[in-house]
Amino acid sequence: MRLTIRDIHKMKAAGEPIAMLTAYDATSAYLGEAAGAPMLLVGDSLGMVVQGHDTTLPVTLDQIIYHARIVTRVTKRALIVGDLPFMTYNISPEQALANAGRLMQEAGVNAVKLEGGEYIAPTIERVVQAGIPVMAHIGLTPQSVNKFGGFRVQGREVESARQLLRDAQAVQAAGAFAVVLELVAAPLAQLITSRLDIPTIGIGAGPDCDGQVQVFHDLLGLYPSFGPRHAHRYAEIGTSIEMALKQYVQEVGARLFPAAENSFSMSTEVLEAVLTDGAPQHADSQ
Ligand code: KIV
Repeated sequence: MRLTIRDIHKMKAAGEPIAMLTAYDATSAYLGEAAGAPMLLVGDSLGMVVQGHDTTLPVTLDQIIYHARIVTRVTKRALIVGDLPFMTYNISPEQALANAGRLMQEAGVNAVKLEGGEYIAPTIERVVQAGIPVMAHIGLTPQSVNKFGGFRVQGREVESARQLLRDAQAVQAAGAFAVVLELVAAPLAQLITSRLDIPTIGIGAGPDCDGQVQVFHDLLGLYPSFGPRHAHRYAEIGTSIEMALKQYVQEVGARLFPAAENSFSMSTEVLEAVLTDGAPQHADSQ
């Protein structure tokens, strides 16, 4: 049985930390679910870690639907959240509802995520009223990276800290079932968490959120030379892959791969028959 937003709310009520992961394809979805993550996010971070862009801005709704369809197909238990990309919900609540509906109907996600605080609350309300659970996302909202002038920690000044608190309360009042706090100073994230009934899911927001979310590639060190400060690399898979692939290339070059155990035999009679078929005919044998 798939988990629901009620299960996620029960986790907050029970003080049980919520570990969320991103997933973009069958491998990451299968591994994330096998690890026991109760929620998987098909995030627009795929624009950076899968497509190789510098920001999430180029990602389209069709691309999120393509990836989310894979993730929902290969998982059974995790609640799947699909990200609404840049400019697919910002124009009007009606635009947001139409696109959230497409993401839910065409990809089978259980909830959508969208970025923004107080100003986007009417949009959240419209989507939730139509029966689509919404995860909000405040703090450093990567789709607004050009406005922020970089990926910077938010809420370190009095006014921006107050605004973040207002944002958190506004998205909760609008009906969001959870809220991501990204790059929010840890003490402020703790304060927001204590003031909200819905779970806060932190990324670079300290240890006191109700849950954490991390990008699959960051946790596994898939990019050997890059990792954001808020992520802990639990493995160095990128380095292992690089070494393994180099060995493969060398072994093909040295004719060490494939070895006998990677090859398939056939009966000598069949081989001889085929050899005879193909043998050049001598004039004196005709
Ligand atoms: O797109 C994404 O993966 C996200 C998380 C980092 C929260 O929004």
